[in-house]
Amino acid sequence: MLFNFQTNIKKEQGVLVFLCLKSMPLDDYLLNINKKYKNYINKAIKLSNLEYNSSSCVDLILPQGSKADRIILVGLKEDDLDSSYNISKIGSYITSILNSRKISEANLIISKKTFKNGSQANLLYGITLNTYRFNKYFSESKRYRNNYLKKINMISDDLASVRKVWSRLKAVQQGVFLTRDLVSEPSNNLTPLLLAKEALKLKKIGLKVNVLDEKELKKLRMGALLGVAQGSSNKPFVVTLEWKGNKSSNFEYSFIGKGVTFDTGGISIKPSGGMEEMKYDMGGSAVVLGLMKALALGKSKVNVSAAIGLVENMPSGTAQRPGDVVTSMSGKTIEVINTDAEGRLVLADVVWYAQKKFKPKKLIDLATLTGAIIVSIGQEKAGMFSNDEKLASELEQCGKQIGEPVWNMPIDESYERDIKSDIADMKNVGSGRGAGSTAGAIFVKRFIKDVSWIHLDIAGVTWAKQDKPMIPKGGTGYGVRLLEKFVNK
Ligand code: BES
Ligand code: MN
Ligand code: ZN
Repeated sequence: MLFNFQTNIKKEQGVLVFLCLKSMPLDDYLLNINKKYKNYINKAIKLSNLEYNSSSCVDLILPQGSKADRIILVGLKEDDLDSSYNISKIGSYITSILNSRKISEANLIISKKTFKNGSQANLLYGITLNTYRFNKYFSESKRYRNNYLKKINMISDDLASVRKVWSRLKAVQQGVFLTRDLVSEPSNNLTPLLLAKEALKLKKIGLKVNVLDEKELKKLRMGALLGVAQGSSNKPFVVTLEWKGNKSSNFEYSFIGKGVTFDTGGISIKPSGGMEEMKYDMGGSAVVLGLMKALALGKSKVNVSAAIGLVENMPSGTAQRPGDVVTSMSGKTIEVINTDAEGRLVLADVVWYAQKKFKPKKLIDLATLTGAIIVSIGQEKAGMFSNDEKLASELEQCGKQIGEPVWNMPIDESYERDIKSDIADMKNVGSGRGAGSTAGAIFVKRFIKDVSWIHLDIAGVTWAKQDKPMIPKGGTGYGVRLLEKFVNK
């Protein structure tokens, strides 16, 4: 996407997009046309029943002799202008309008005083987020999921503030696109090694990146993670990333991501129907990478560390068996009842390692951990589990504000006995049939020590089966916008 910023319409040509509020008189430019063509604009608005709901428009082709070719009027809901999320949704709608008409360039004319403090930059954010496409595996371009829109000229006052807001939002958008790219990639082309290499690419934007290979993981005694990896010929890695936005030597946050590049279930193998979806079982680590990219590009002032556990969960002659007992890096032992509950085994070692290495004040892990979270709360929200009520309610607020909601789930003592094992410190699945997501969370909690912690189960929100505002179907990038906001709030 190309954006051009201007304070005046330099050339009245091509497609002009105007945002109209019910309460506001027509823009001067529109008034002129209206006069020149005998009340054409007013008549069009009236006859087409333009609704001021931020999701309807009037599309006018101008007669011969006009300078511009086409005018698109978008009816805005007054309240939407108070929320940057709602403004971005308007942007996303503009992309849909222009793409459905195969328009590649448009002038977006913002009347004075419609937006405050550069908040019109959120339009650009929404416009861009909705242009994302993953076309790399079509050999013929006619098969592409087309995005026609290539360039927007934004005509607005207050451009200094717009540029400032946009520079941060643009950083987040680039993070979101990285996450979507990684989540969309098939597993033959995104093994743990290749994903580690993707992380290393972030060095060039100023992040410190360190890769631990199998030998080092063995030395660290990450028995839980290594047990999951042992069935695959693709070797495991743990990657750490660091962003120092201020002079303090402490880390405010550590973000941890589940990076199972493919989850067959292992010996407790999954049914074949839908198994291809398990290519996105590295979604948590993709969000962590997208987030770190956004923080670095946006030059965040906060010190943030991250660690992702990269493994492939395969059945084979070397795979771990149900009933095996592994010893995690913490020293705690785990009876592996179900090899398909592998994400928590990976997290157990990675959260432990991150706490030791980074000593963060707050630790947030993201994982496509359980199908049960989809059963309980669906695909619009992430499940949140925390040991710190205040932190949890802060994140909840943040999610509401930016449109990536989280739902607070139970994780009290009463669930502890669910993962009691007869021969080890714990087992990796619950005994009962209920509360599957809590069983996963309570397992991870066993490896959390004196740190404010949030676990986000993102199994339901990582992939969109149909288009949503700002999210073309496919990898959503859910979590990047939420956590960037949380860190920089
Ligand atoms: N990666 C899956 C969870 C998942 C399911 C992610 C659907 C995205 C969409 C996870 O490793 C898993 O297999 N969980 C099991 C846990 C069970 C064995 C206790 C599940 O949800 O069935
Ligand atoms: Mn699994
Ligand atoms: Zn999994």
